[in-house]
Amino acid sequence: MPAVIEVRNLHKRYGPHVAVDDVSFAVEQGEIFGILGPNGAGKTTTVECVEGLRTPDRGEIDVLGLDPRRDRAELTQRLGVQLQDGQLPDRLRVGEALRLYGSFYRRPADPAALADALGLAGAQRTPYAALSGGQKQRLSIALALIGSPEVAVLDELTTGLDPQARRDTWDLIQDVRARGVTILLVTHFMAEAERLCDRVAVIDGGRVVALDSPAALAERVQGGQRIRFRPSVPFEDALLTDLPDVTGLTRQGDVVVVTGTDNALGAVTSVLARHDIAADHLRVEQAGLEDAFVALTGGDEKTRRRRTP
Ligand SMILES: Nc1ncnc2c1ncn2[C@@H]1O[C@H](COP(=O)(O)OP(=O)(O)OP(=O)(O)O)[C@@H](O)[C@H]1O
Ligand SMILES: [Mg+2]
Repeated sequence: MPAVIEVRNLHKRYGPHVAVDDVSFAVEQGEIFGILGPNGAGKTTTVECVEGLRTPDRGEIDVLGLDPRRDRAELTQRLGVQLQDGQLPDRLRVGEALRLYGSFYRRPADPAALADALGLAGAQRTPYAALSGGQKQRLSIALALIGSPEVAVLDELTTGLDPQARRDTWDLIQDVRARGVTILLVTHFMAEAERLCDRVAVIDGGRVVALDSPAALAERVQGGQRIRFRPSVPFEDALLTDLPDVTGLTRQGDVVVVTGTDNALGAVTSVLARHDIAADHLRVEQAGLEDAFVALTGGDEKTRRRRTP
């Protein structure tokens, strides 16, 4: 199947600062593709090049067979964009904004149905300036979808939304995808990437440091499980670290933290039982995308700056 979005060897600098340094990826038809990375990683710059809002210094971009710069007018009809810092005139009402933006497109969606799907039905007459942060966010998503796009690019989809609104938005995005829309999603939230994305490109310092499914990313960085417990009696580390399924053991006060494969829990509990050691307050955590993300990027921009002053 041909890629809907193809980015090859993208480079973009702002003066001396390299924001995007040789980024390549391809998004398949009907996919939800995530771009994940710390602040300043180059995510927005990358998607703005895909949208044709910025001109790359080098590299090729193909979206629906179009060149985002050369074929801007045609692409605008087929690509929906949610801007990270979208602003509208203060006095423009929600309903007016939806109708106005709809009028730019050949095949606009029904504004009332879209407002309803995004929980904005009651705010149709509210001016932009009087919307809450979450309502502004929902409106920006609605405006990205008002043209019935084939591809939607969503930058920080759920930033500023409360947990319920975030889950509602995830459901909406899944509905949108079910209708055949390909989605490029920029996010900081691991939970969002795990929940929504088929594949994720992790970007750090302008480079793609990993590209895989959320599950495969999590597995690659840290196999399986983390087991915490308080042993009823002291024991030697080797009792557990000799087990083939155990990859590590640390102690935090009187709490033992064991990492290992997905089979580690069974192996650890049976050895402890054989030695009459009770494991109090036993807790098992699955390694998630959060672990993968932190390990791959080495923390946020602040930490990086501290490391390389
Ligand atoms: N117009 C600009 N002029 C100069 N530097 C810029 C400009 N836009 C972005 N940058 C810089 O380029 C780098 C990448 O910025 P970008 O906005 O692409 O990051 P991001 O990954 O989207 O970050 P965030 O998670 O904070 O949105 C940052 O260091 C940023 O300061
Ligand atoms: Mg950004």
